[in-house]
Amino acid sequence: MSGDGTKSIWWNGALVPHGDAKVHVLTHAIHYGTGVFEGIRAYKGPEGLAIFRLEEHIDRLFQSASAYKIEMAHTRDAVIQGCIDVVRDNDLDECYLRPIAFIGFGPLGVYWKDNPTNTAVAAFPWGTYLGPEALEKGIRVTVSSWTRIHHAQFPTTAKGCGQYLNSVLAVREAHEKGFDEALLLDRHGNVAEGSGENLFLVNDGSLRTPGLDSSILPGITRESVMELARDAGLRVEVGPITRGEVYTADEAFFTGTAAEVTPIREVDGHVIGSGGRGPITEQLQSGYLSAVRGGNAAKDHWLTRV
Ligand SMILES: Cc1ncc(COP(=O)(O)O)c(C=O)c1O
Repeated sequence: MSGDGTKSIWWNGALVPHGDAKVHVLTHAIHYGTGVFEGIRAYKGPEGLAIFRLEEHIDRLFQSASAYKIEMAHTRDAVIQGCIDVVRDNDLDECYLRPIAFIGFGPLGVYWKDNPTNTAVAAFPWGTYLGPEALEKGIRVTVSSWTRIHHAQFPTTAKGCGQYLNSVLAVREAHEKGFDEALLLDRHGNVAEGSGENLFLVNDGSLRTPGLDSSILPGITRESVMELARDAGLRVEVGPITRGEVYTADEAFFTGTAAEVTPIREVDGHVIGSGGRGPITEQLQSGYLSAVRGGNAAKDHWLTRV
């Protein structure tokens, strides 16, 4: 049994006791970050527990693996079933799922050849990512002194384990300066994204979010929010955003599986809008939080009932 009360982890194709999902210290991924992962949430609505956009997340896991030529040891269907099984076996209510596939124990050369790919799915309770008041009151953000890894250096559309050292540097610096989260610029000086979230600005009732050429991870929450916004008749543009535009936006918010739809109330001492959750942000946040719990019949295909 783990500290969070969960008892099992899906490990290389089967559920094993939580404490048995272990690796050797010479595991390739520990040394070089050679793994790919996902973050997924399950929500409970009137019709029960459901995993949000499970298939899209597992597809992205396989695309991330393909970007690094990590050979998956299990099929897409097996990993999807593993996600469902681990939630069921642990009797979880609303929770977070962490599928990961990584290069295992074997020769330690940077170029791996015959090392196995290990695959795990853990699930555990995880509340509001950016603090209990974040969703309602918004967070304080600083532009990082670290720029986001560039797509000419890494496949930035992939969720590669080693890529997250960039996020770690940025979020640590932000916390040490007394902020809740970092906003990273791309190497051309345009805005990229947060350490684990995509950014949206609202101006005159229209949304704008950076595109893939700003080296962002194409977030599944970002895509869901864009769809909900368009359904609501809002204009959504994808394109470059400058630092100054963030400081003067009517509203700003982050999206992510962990962060959900989190308003940004301040960036580097610039108060955004009225300094709280703006009206469009609130509309999209409540639309998102309703859809994830089955409150939007048109988006039922986003949910996999557990
Ligand atoms: C760097 C980064 N950007 C954006 C996101 C948001 O992606 P998603 O909405 O798919 O969770 C995440 C979280 O996965 C992330 O780690």
